Amino acid sequence: MSKLNVAIDGPAGAGKSTVAKLLADKLGLLYIDTGSMYRALTWKALQLNYDFNDTAALAELSSEVMIKLITDNQNYRVFIDGEDVTGKIRQPEVSQRVSLVARIPEVRKNMVRQQQSMAASGGVVMDGRDIGTRVLPDAQAKFFLTASIEERARRRQRDLKQKGYHVPLETLMAEISQRDYIDQNRETDPLVPAEEAIIIDTTGLTINQVVEQMVQHIENVSDCK
Ligand code: CDP
Repeated sequence: MSKLNVAIDGPAGAGKSTVAKLLADKLGLLYIDTGSMYRALTWKALQLNYDFNDTAALAELSSEVMIKLITDNQNYRVFIDGEDVTGKIRQPEVSQRVSLVARIPEVRKNMVRQQQSMAASGGVVMDGRDIGTRVLPDAQAKFFLTASIEERARRRQRDLKQKGYHVPLETLMAEISQRDYIDQNRETDPLVPAEEAIIIDTTGLTINQVVEQMVQHIENVSDCK
């Protein structure tokens, strides 16, 4: 069997990154957060005062920048053009615009190419929106995580509070709904579960319960090979 690749997709705040990190640790795989690449690009465009309706300029920017992920599981860092933007890409200003950048086909082409090369030798847990459908269609295990919008906004509010941002719940629910809408309705690689994805509704489940379900499924898949 080729080295295991795991794809985790789902809407904003469904808990993908938390469970993906734990799962990667448990299985001795490398965690790759593809959303951080779209976020880094969006952060750069904000710094350079780009017009977010100018798709041609954003597409060009995506082919010029150098995004680097340091994927040591204990210390995950994101760099763009040599600058460490790990914390900065979680700012609400980035979250509000990232889906506008991620819907541009040329931007996706550039990001997907880099993501596929990172996973080429196998052994990754990758999370995003199009991992099971587009980036890693041959992944041995595919999961799609969901949760109610209220729960997702509450989780996001807790995360942001830890990072020093106080955002009202209603604001987060509106932002998440809008982002989901754009992600689900864009023309290129919209957010949909891969046909063979295991769908897990994480509402009311603990992180460990979700990770356990995933591990069990992966063990079954591995036994079948
Ligand atoms: O962490 P959160 O669920 O808020 O989102 P993220 O994974 O950081 O992704 C931020 C945004 O990047 C998403 O809302 C998508 O618009 C875009 N994205 C994408 O289009 N494809 C991916 N594989 C990953 C993220």
